[in-house]
Amino acid sequence: MSFENTLAYARQLDSEDPLASYRDKFHIPKDNNGQDWLYFTGNSLGLQPKTTQKYIQQELDDWANYGVEGHFEAKNPWMPYHELLTASMAKIVGAKPIEVVVMNTLTTNLHLLMVSFYRPTKTKFKIVIESDAFPSDRYAVQSQLQFHGFDPAVGLVEWRPRQGEELLRIEDLETILAAQGDEIALLLIGGVNYYTGQYLDLKRIAELGHAKNCMVGIDLAHGAGNVSPDLHDSGVDFAAWCSYKYLNAGPGSLGGIFVHENHANNRDLPRFAGWWNHNKETRFNMRQPFDVMKGAEGWQLSNPPILSMAAIKASLDMFDEVGMKALRIKSEKMTGYFEYLIHQINSDSIKIITPSNPKERGCQLSIQVKNADKSLHKKLTENNIITDWREPDVIRCAPVPLYNRFEDVYKMVTVLKGLL
Ligand SMILES: Cc1ncc(COP(=O)(O)O)c(C=O)c1O
Repeated sequence: MSFENTLAYARQLDSEDPLASYRDKFHIPKDNNGQDWLYFTGNSLGLQPKTTQKYIQQELDDWANYGVEGHFEAKNPWMPYHELLTASMAKIVGAKPIEVVVMNTLTTNLHLLMVSFYRPTKTKFKIVIESDAFPSDRYAVQSQLQFHGFDPAVGLVEWRPRQGEELLRIEDLETILAAQGDEIALLLIGGVNYYTGQYLDLKRIAELGHAKNCMVGIDLAHGAGNVSPDLHDSGVDFAAWCSYKYLNAGPGSLGGIFVHENHANNRDLPRFAGWWNHNKETRFNMRQPFDVMKGAEGWQLSNPPILSMAAIKASLDMFDEVGMKALRIKSEKMTGYFEYLIHQINSDSIKIITPSNPKERGCQLSIQVKNADKSLHKKLTENNIITDWREPDVIRCAPVPLYNRFEDVYKMVTVLKGLL
């Protein structure tokens, strides 16, 4: 794509943008003078759709009006409320509805999925993660190893970038599996790495893992609503993600899980149980022997928080309207423009470490700051440009196609240039 480094050109791109009107459907935080912040942290907490309040209010009203009867009498009855989210969520991650359910939060879900998909033996017990995995994932797998009686120092295998590089190479995962595959039980990989923004080839990872009889799980926290991961076709065994980043469902909102159809009918897979993964036809007969549900729903435990699900529904209805295809088209263009402008600064003090190939990234660019100077991030914030700093040396910026403008990107880079 060829771009121009002017505000007029950025505004022209906005005027040609078929999704431009969606910005107005969000609450954009403002500074003390009433100016919109330049918000680039949808990778951390997505902004609030203006419809969210109405969706939550509906459930508050139904609770006020019906009390417990709301489980059946609410406009959207609470008993099957989670089912209202399944088809839309499945489309976002490229899955079949039977493979997806919204429940709990991300780290909890990773543990519940590892109950089923991390079944170590004395000789095949290791878990592979990226060396730059999100700390919660690292803690989760370390504790799983310990729970099963293994020393994380031995059982945790790190797939790391080569010396002097920031990104992961698939051939290095191949080398790890060739050397230790017989001892590896599980690969748990961030589909889009939180730090570098690198979007990995999930299909290839699944093929490599399965060739060595390993289970393959994906943390899609930075992928859901950002890239189109085609989870079903990728063949990965399971995945989990959150809804508070690109899915704009509010702080701490519920996550989603994917369990591949290959495992959907395997009632013998060990798992934890509660009344919500018991057959919904007989759930209220009580005192029945446990009868597990098919598909991803068979990993639920508890009746879910409806207020959080209402916020998710508000967001997913918008995703249904727009579709991931249109989002990706804008996203590739906007992040491409962002990258072009940063390269135009031509400064030795910063470097983009995110892959330059749009197929290997979502909307986020990770800007490495030489000499790990956090003051640059601080100054951006003082200019009402909201990015986030990740230790040791990266500013993460995510222009989100639903609510960011090309103009935001232009203004952000102009300020960045001034600061440098
Ligand atoms: C990649 C990744 N994994 C795990 C988590 C933890 O999520 P939660 O607090 O919902 O368990 C996050 C949170 O930002 C994340 O980015």
